[in-house]
Amino acid sequence: MAVIIDGKKISQQIKDELKEKVEKLRMEGKTGALAVIQVGADPASSVYVRNKKNACAYIGIESLAYELPEDTSEDALLQLVEELNGKEEVKGILVQLPLPSHICEDKVIQAISPGKDVDGFHPQSVGAMAIGEKGFLSCTPAGIIELLKRSGIEMEGKRCVVIGRSNIVGKPMALLMLRENATVTITHSRTKNLPEICRQADILIAALGKPRFIGAEYVKEGAVVVDVGIHRDENNKLCGDVKFEEVEKIASAITPVPGGVGPMTIAMLMNNCVQGMEEEPKA
Ligand code: GUN
Repeated sequence: MAVIIDGKKISQQIKDELKEKVEKLRMEGKTGALAVIQVGADPASSVYVRNKKNACAYIGIESLAYELPEDTSEDALLQLVEELNGKEEVKGILVQLPLPSHICEDKVIQAISPGKDVDGFHPQSVGAMAIGEKGFLSCTPAGIIELLKRSGIEMEGKRCVVIGRSNIVGKPMALLMLRENATVTITHSRTKNLPEICRQADILIAALGKPRFIGAEYVKEGAVVVDVGIHRDENNKLCGDVKFEEVEKIASAITPVPGGVGPMTIAMLMNNCVQGMEEEPKA
């Protein structure tokens, strides 16, 4: 039976460390706020936004909430981002995705000053990560690396298979694993012989976005399995991309859903905000 990797506990440790750091920074006169923008009232987004605001309150940084109506124009949103780029006390700007279809997400992401891009979605942040330069790391992949490190799971020299190639998880995940000296394969919906490739993985990262898709036939005995998916099943119960009950019998370690990767994303967002506070003012 696999060890269950407790993301909730590890994220709590990180938030406690950050809380101490924020207090020290405050004594040095360094403060700052995270601006969180939500357009519309998608219920899932509202939950994420609330969790982010609560995490800010916990570690002791101010959060500025901008809850804009669904019919907000792209220009108005871009103008708000521009305004926040210019405010010295705002150390991080987060625009909750997805945005309504009349707004171009790429345009909005690119409008955020890279120095305040705490999501790590700006092309400059992604480019810096790819070549190992300083910048904000995408929160979910960075959270997974931290989760593995703090669970004592070695990545160097290991064969890592990432399922999924999204800009938010799959691609940055592969780059960060490479940075840890893993041997990385990226797979996706057009990959042939997916189960066979996945069975070669020492570390398997499921970020394909299909509920309970990855069963035992995808997992090598003793592999570490990280489940990035989050879905509601037919009984309204949360589940991941992995068939947990089946895979935990084969894996050596596995992340649960909920309580695995999810809490780490927020912990790393907070880490990015604190990183923003530590740096010289950018506005
Ligand atoms: N929507 C789903 N995940 C995320 C995230 O990590 N950041 C933002 N801004 N929007 C999201």
